[in-house]
Amino acid sequence: MELHARYGGVVPELASRQHVEAIVPVLEEALERAGCTLESIDAVAVTTGPGLAGALLVGANAAKAMAYAIDLPLVAVNHLEGHIYAAWLADAPSGEDVREPRFPVLCLIVSGGHTDLVLMTGHGRYRRLGETADDAAGEAFDKVARMMGLGFPGGPEIERLAGQVSPTLRLPRARLSRPYDFSFSGLKSKVLRLVRGEEGPVPAAPELAAAFQEAVVDALVTKTLAAARDHEAVEVILVGGVAANSVLRRSLSERSPLPVRIPSAALCTDNGAMIAACGWWRLQDGEVARLDVDVQPGLRIG
Ligand code: KG4
Ligand code: ZN
Repeated sequence: MELHARYGGVVPELASRQHVEAIVPVLEEALERAGCTLESIDAVAVTTGPGLAGALLVGANAAKAMAYAIDLPLVAVNHLEGHIYAAWLADAPSGEDVREPRFPVLCLIVSGGHTDLVLMTGHGRYRRLGETADDAAGEAFDKVARMMGLGFPGGPEIERLAGQVSPTLRLPRARLSRPYDFSFSGLKSKVLRLVRGEEGPVPAAPELAAAFQEAVVDALVTKTLAAARDHEAVEVILVGGVAANSVLRRSLSERSPLPVRIPSAALCTDNGAMIAACGWWRLQDGEVARLDVDVQPGLRIG
């Protein structure tokens, strides 16, 4: 992360090289911390997409090598599905005693590369209802943070700054013809004009951060709840890196008439546990990958 912070974003070539350096130590540390040996593993689950091809290849090849060497089933996992399955590792919403999410469940996946509204009707069954027309929510946080001279990744920086005030400034919400789609590029341009002083005195940084965060959160929550209502979902799941944002977590929980399940921040940002959880369900369905399975950088969900 420090490496990418220096460049204000992820540099693909550097990311792949870092994966090469980190993969073995990370595997060793994971086994050690979990207190298990290679012999106690039942299967190897790995992300095959979406993502940067170079980084995906490093993980996929390591997983193939492990599966082949120890003679274990290999399970290919869609990274976005992985994010959703973090909810299977999370506690039940307060007041609910049901441990696992019930179907149909409306999932909002908000990460650095995706902003997807997905109706999940069963394990492995998805219907994408909405997506972003331009920037992903996390990408918008990162770009706005950069405009404001803040560090990378931008989400936590904006949240920290925004926490100092309640905004009086109201930024515009995008209007789109498709009811469950998102757009953050207009908002981003508006912030750029404000930062450059093109629309009068430059607002104080905390005020700007808070107004931007409020506009993003409002759009995400409003559309998620509309989609949940229109498709008769019985629960709502919020996942992906941006789901670590406490204002988004609170707003969705407070405004939703349905139970809302949000994994801890550590399970929302990218992690291996969510890939393992998803892989376990895929394995129950007998979905074992061949050792020549390829990576799919542009893989989608639903
Ligand atoms: O899911 P993730 O860890 O990686 C991807 O698959 O993209 O998401 C990373 C994104 C980044 O854009 C980062 O700025 C954003 O999640 N993020 C946040 C917060 N923590 C991470 N955005 C808003 N508020 C946060 N607290
Ligand atoms: Zn992710």
